[in-house]
Amino acid sequence: MIDDVRQAREAGLARVAAATSSDELRSVDAEVLGKKGPLSGLKTRLGGSPVEERKTVGQAINEAITAVQAALDARSAALGAEQTAARIAAERLDLTEVVGRQRRGHPHLSTQAWERLEDVFVGLGFQVAEGPEVETDFYNFEALNMPRSHPARSGFDTLFTDYHDDGTVLLRTHTSPVQIRVMQQIAPPIYMVMPGKVFRRDTPDATHMPVFHQIEGLVVDRNITMAHLAGTIDAFTKAFFGSGFSSRLRPNYFPFTEPSAEFDIRRPDGTWIELGGCGMVHPNVLRAGGLDPEVWSGFAFGFGIDRMARERHGVDDLRDMFSNDIRFIEQF
Ligand code: PHE
Repeated sequence: MIDDVRQAREAGLARVAAATSSDELRSVDAEVLGKKGPLSGLKTRLGGSPVEERKTVGQAINEAITAVQAALDARSAALGAEQTAARIAAERLDLTEVVGRQRRGHPHLSTQAWERLEDVFVGLGFQVAEGPEVETDFYNFEALNMPRSHPARSGFDTLFTDYHDDGTVLLRTHTSPVQIRVMQQIAPPIYMVMPGKVFRRDTPDATHMPVFHQIEGLVVDRNITMAHLAGTIDAFTKAFFGSGFSSRLRPNYFPFTEPSAEFDIRRPDGTWIELGGCGMVHPNVLRAGGLDPEVWSGFAFGFGIDRMARERHGVDDLRDMFSNDIRFIEQF
């Protein structure tokens, strides 16, 4: 009988060694060590043997089981490692190939417009500042001459955070709150542009996105007039679009500027693009910024950056710019 045990043991070990997958190992486990396997059968047969044989052969059977089990565990670990190595090899990305094909990243077309706008204004003598995207009611509205009950507030479709129950913490609806922060932090003369992300509760369509980018301009100095505003807008227009372009102001209303205007850009072919809003900084806004309106005067403007990128590249649908489809993005 001891020979049968040895044979069963050798056969079991050979099957374990020959297994080439975890699945195969599992069936070897069941067939060799299971209740209907050869070693179990030998155990049953041993029941009728003399005591002495039961002892030695029983021990041999147990050793055989332990040996096959150990071989199974070792083989299973080895196969697992092989499979992991194979999966990693299959999932490997050849980054050298990507570089070889010159698929380098580049700034998004909206970022390109943002950076070019900064360059143009820096060239005109402006500095650049940024403010927070999450704002308080005070900076976004109150300090900009829009007290609680002001009807112009409803035109902004504000997104509020639930940080305070009373709706005083919000996502800024325009970059104008940065005007106040700049006036509070630096003394005039101020020649500043303030680009950034703004948010409005809008359904995305070809010309609107709930998240978009604006650039704000603020000048505060002595004896600033509307002529400085018009001249600055025109200088900017020619620097950004080219000398064939010009600009005009049309009367409009904003609570934070007085007088206020809309400004348009004239293309060389005589057609017009509506660009943004502007005006002379309202005395209440200067006061909110800590400045004396008897001493200081200024102008401000604000317009959409994404619209500039759209105009420059002839993009039909704003949504394409932000869907991050690489086939679209790569064109610019
Ligand atoms: N903040 C205004 C808007 O988002 C634009 C503006 C800025 C108008 C500065 C006047 C002065 O529509």
